Amino acid sequence: MSSASQLKTTRAATGPRWVVPAKVIVFIAMLFPLARIVVLGMTGGLGANPIEFITRSTGLWTLVYLCITLAITSLRRLTGVNALARFRRMIGLYAFFFAVLHCTTYIWFDKWFDVTEILKDIGKRPFITVGFAAFVLLIPLAATSPKAMWCASSAGAGRRCIGRSM
Ligand code: HEM
Repeated sequence: MSSASQLKTTRAATGPRWVVPAKVIVFIAMLFPLARIVVLGMTGGLGANPIEFITRSTGLWTLVYLCITLAITSLRRLTGVNALARFRRMIGLYAFFFAVLHCTTYIWFDKWFDVTEILKDIGKRPFITVGFAAFVLLIPLAATSPKAMWCASSAGAGRRCIGRSM
């Protein structure tokens, strides 16, 4: 294979030249909410109720990343920039990562795995059930993400895959 056609094959696999550096930048930028929590935690900036601060912050960022993930397909169609699809998996996994931090903070550090307390809280604040349902829906999407099921380049044209709904 000539080097020109080799380059073509690589380009087809990775997308335009700007995709890789842009992915690195997005990857680092999306760590900002976590870095913020760590820095505030070390400088005593988490306020009077640090657990509540962390639960709220991670919940908010889960929602933000989830919305960005869901918006990518429409944005790609609107702008015609197909390379945007290459960011979807990474951002979706970040949404899942923050969702894990969010519910771990609540179940572990807020409620100490006390199921009775959690059920009482759900009775008072039903939105926790909605959050839980959203989290359960994210699990299969995250679990299948390393496979071609996320509709990466190797998924056949007619093949249906779980990741398409993301
Ligand atoms: C994809 C899943 C989820 C999303 C997008 C989500 C999103 C959010 C958002 C946006 C908030 C409000 C933050 C604020 O007040 O600024 C929140 C609060 C909260 N979420 Fe979630 N959540 C999810 C899953 C869960 C799960 C699984 C649990 C529990 C097991 C949970 C427990 C809570 C609790 C307890 C609060 C209230 C924190 C407080 O005000 O003390 N969430 N969530």
